[in-house]
This record gives sequence, C-alpha cells and structure tokens, in this order.
Amino acid sequence: MSTQPKRVLVLGGTVYLSHKIAALALERGHRVTVASRGASGEPPEGAEFVAIDRSVEGGVDALRGREFDAVFDVARIPAHVGPVLDALADGAGHWSFISSISAYAEHATVTDELYEPAPDDSTDPSVEVYGASKVAIENMVRDRLGDRALVTRPGLIVGAGDPVDRLGYWPLRFSEGGEILAPGPRERPVQWIDVEDYATWLLDAADAGLTGTFDAIGDHIGMEAFFDGIADALIEQGVLKERPDLTWVSQEFILEQEVTAWAGHESLGFWAPSPDYDGHGSRPSAPAVAAGLRLSTLATTIERWWNTNSAAPTLRAGLSRRREGELLAAWHGTEADAEALERYDRERSFKVPPPTAPPG
Ligand SMILES: NC(=O)c1ccc[n+]([C@@H]2O[C@H](COP(=O)([O-])OP(=O)(O)OC[C@H]3O[C@@H](n4cnc5c(N)ncnc54)[C@H](OP(=O)(O)O)[C@@H]3O)[C@@H](O)[C@H]2O)c1
Repeated sequence: MSTQPKRVLVLGGTVYLSHKIAALALERGHRVTVASRGASGEPPEGAEFVAIDRSVEGGVDALRGREFDAVFDVARIPAHVGPVLDALADGAGHWSFISSISAYAEHATVTDELYEPAPDDSTDPSVEVYGASKVAIENMVRDRLGDRALVTRPGLIVGAGDPVDRLGYWPLRFSEGGEILAPGPRERPVQWIDVEDYATWLLDAADAGLTGTFDAIGDHIGMEAFFDGIADALIEQGVLKERPDLTWVSQEFILEQEVTAWAGHESLGFWAPSPDYDGHGSRPSAPAVAAGLRLSTLATTIERWWNTNSAAPTLRAGLSRRREGELLAAWHGTEADAEALERYDRERSFKVPPPTAPPG
C-alpha cells in the first residue's frame, strides 16, 4: 500500500477512533491536521490542531479553502456537516465518512433497508435519531463528493481507549474468578471491529482511493464462542489459569430481572435480546474484507485491550458484584451473601459505570 505523504484532515481526532486514525496517519508519515473543539481530549502529538466548533454559525471558518488529499469525518449531527462540505469538499481528494450499522432500520434480520434520513439541518443529538442522522449525512457526503466518497458503517468498535467500553467488562470479570453470570442464549450472534483494524483499513482505503459503501465489521460468532475466545486469550497471556466458571442464565430470566442490555449502569456489555438484535450481530464482513479490511483475531484484540486498558479501565458497561451475585442467587433460588459481595465490590480494581453513564 502506498504511503506517499498526504495532507490528511481528521474532523474529530481527540478521542478513540478518530484519534486512532490521526495517530496511525502520523505513523505513516502523512501531514495530519485535526479539527475539533479540543473538548474530548488531546489530538495525537505531531498533528496540527485547528480549533473549530461545528455547532455554531461560522464555527468552521478556520478550515475554509484548505485543501486535503484525504478527509475523515465521524459526525453524528446532520447540521454539523453542510458547513464543512461547503468549506472543504471542492479541495478534498477523498472523503471518508464514518457512519454506523445503526443506519439500518431493521435490527432483527440482515437487510439493507435504511432509516428515512433526518433533515439535513437537524441538530438533534438523541439516540432515537442516531441512525436517521447517519443516513442523512451519508447522503450529503455522497451528493457533494460523488466518486470521491467512501462511506463505512461500523458495528461495535472495540479496543484501546473505548469510552463506552462494552468489551472490557468481560476480560476484567473473568480475571476476578468466582462464579460468573453469562447471558444466554449461547448461540446469540455477536460481532465487532477492532479500532486498530478499522483505522488501518480507513487509511489504506484513502490511499487506494476506495469509494462506495461498506459495512465495517468482523465475522460473527456465538456468545459462547466469544467468551471462550476471551478466556483462551487471557490464559495464553497468563492472566487466567483456566476457563472461567460461567453460569449461563436464560434470556427470559435476564428480561424478567430487568437487567440493562448493551451498555451503561449495571448492564451486560455486548448483550442484547435475541432475535430482536440478531441482525445487528450478523452483518456480512466479506465485502469489507474483499476491499482490504484485515481482521485481527479475537486473541489479538483481547491482548491489545488488556495491555492498554486493564490497568486503568473506564468501563461504561458491566455489573457490580452485588448485582451479579443477587442475580445468580435468584437464578439458583438461594440467598446472596451480601457481605461477601460488598467486599468484592470494594476490592475491585475497576468500577462499573455510575447511574449517569450514557448508553452506548
Ligand atoms: N463506538 C462504537 O462502537 C461505534 C459503533 C458504530 C459507529 N460508531 C461511529 O464511529 C465514530 C466514532 O468516532 P470517535 O471514536 O472519534 O468518537 P466520537 O465521540 O464520535 O468523536 C467525536 C469527535 O468529534 C468532535 N466533535 C464533537 N462535537 C464537535 C463540535 N461541535 N465541533 C467540532 N468537533 C466536534 C469531538 O472532539 P471535541 O469534543 O474535542 O470537539 C471528537 O473528536 C462515530 O462516527 C460513531 O458514530 C461508533
């Protein structure tokens, strides 16, 4: 893959995926500009920082007339996109928009039906219109960039620096030992994309001038195979000695007990009801792979996560030991040992999310 120095603009660049794109672009020797408010974090060292605020009139004027070989944008709000297209589209060689599989209107099965797009001037940040907003932005980008536009729709992005960490609870919980609540059904399909694989592919795609629309996701496997893969990776790394003691509880029980799915306070990260969300866990990976996406093994992803996050995790998903112990006791029809559970929570190296944590 060509690594000729390029002028790269990352709209975002201060957190997680967009930070990773900027950091890897710098490693490739590109001249990288990061444009955002600087509110979410620091851009990677070596990047030019341009302060913009897409939520205010004239807030992107600092970029007007600049030319870039490759632009990457992670926008979620349609009204934030028109002004950057006006300022930059004519001088952009390649435009990569990071959308989401949440753009698909059907969650239970794999279809290509999308939400009706939100209005182009929508400023609504709410999760209810997230998919419709992504569809609107996709259309705006395609309209303005034509055959210079690449739209990718990632599923769950996992890895180092994830601010909505749905993966991290499981390796950390496995490392604690004891009886662990595992949410059924065992064969429920799950899939993810490693943030490093995704950022690498986006940069390769810009280098190659790849255009069109792709899901950006890895192969799907069952929840049990996913847990086995995490356990085996931790055993391989010497974190665990043996497979964890999992107690599989039924989906009906989880729903009865009103355990929060997916992310947030006292939730089960990665878990969502089946078959209601099976379509979101089984999107096809083959088109992206054929277009150059290289997928790391689960073991590599877990190793990367463990080496960068486990010492100071900032989890936004997971159960407290107290809640988990109470659920297990209810499942077995026994009494929970409240004192022991409280001690486990006090001694934990990580905290599960507070009630105010946003949903993923
Ligand atoms: N995480 C997942 O599992 C997942 C799954 C599917 C799709 N996605 C998509 O993947 C992308 C993830 O992007 P990300 O990791 O970089 O996180 P992000 O939270 O979407 O990042 C937003 C970036 O935009 C900047 N920004 C926000 N408001 C701004 C404003 N008013 N003006 C200028 N800049 C602004 C932020 O910087 P400042 O705050 O510093 O300004 C930040 O750098 C998103 O497009 C998301 O929709 C994520």
